[in-house]
Amino acid sequence: MDKEVKYRINEFDSFSKKFLENGYIIRPIANFDALDKIRDTVIQIATDILEIDLPKDKEFFLNSFHDLIDYKKLNDFRLSIYNKLNSFSWFKSLYYSLAETYIKSLVGNELVIQKRVNLSIQLPNDDSSILPVHADVWNGDSPYELVMWIPIVDCYASKSMFILPIEEENKISKSIKSFRTSSSDDLFNIIKGNIKWLDIKFGEVLLFSQNLMHGNIVNIENETRWSMNCRYKSLFSPYSAKKLGEFFEPLSIKPVTKLGMNYKFPKGF
Ligand SMILES: [Fe+2]
Repeated sequence: MDKEVKYRINEFDSFSKKFLENGYIIRPIANFDALDKIRDTVIQIATDILEIDLPKDKEFFLNSFHDLIDYKKLNDFRLSIYNKLNSFSWFKSLYYSLAETYIKSLVGNELVIQKRVNLSIQLPNDDSSILPVHADVWNGDSPYELVMWIPIVDCYASKSMFILPIEEENKISKSIKSFRTSSSDDLFNIIKGNIKWLDIKFGEVLLFSQNLMHGNIVNIENETRWSMNCRYKSLFSPYSAKKLGEFFEPLSIKPVTKLGMNYKFPKGF
């Protein structure tokens, strides 16, 4: 076998193997110019809303954003940026380009994408935007979905998110009767010794199955977290509460599938 082809197959095998073992993977993004454009657009929208000049140091502006905003107005502010970003026709395809090759490897090449990309802003010591431990599949997501999570600042410790890798969930399963608890705090206490706090730099992407337990706690670092996330699934994998046309829209459909979907038997058949 050609050396180059063999290398690519081995590389793909180890990538898939690692994802299957852990249920998540962190990789460098594929298109740095696109990420820069997305970050610049977020900053442009934010400074327009605040009616301030563009910052010289983009990283510092985003990380110290909590000094510029009233905590009570955070959600309205976040929604304004989210709506504006999602109104740009180029935004979603650029976002997808950051991890297109990884998504095709993990999910397939006939894909649907969440209609709108989410934006999350976690200010230091703000308990209003905590996501307690959960798995999206418990609340109406299909188990066939992949989440693409992109930070636009470096994320670490409580400024990031935690995840319970598949191997760790399997380990805990052996010693407990059930993960069903009366509160998410109780569940967090069961898994907290086995969770992974994700260290993700600007320029990297996290791809994870939302079947894994995950969440965040109050950000006690002295920096603001900015991140985006979006779900993908194979066009023909089973749907749950989030339907095609409502929550998802087609991203890539192959010509033979288009013919098949539009086929009508000739008259009389
Ligand atoms: Fe989630």
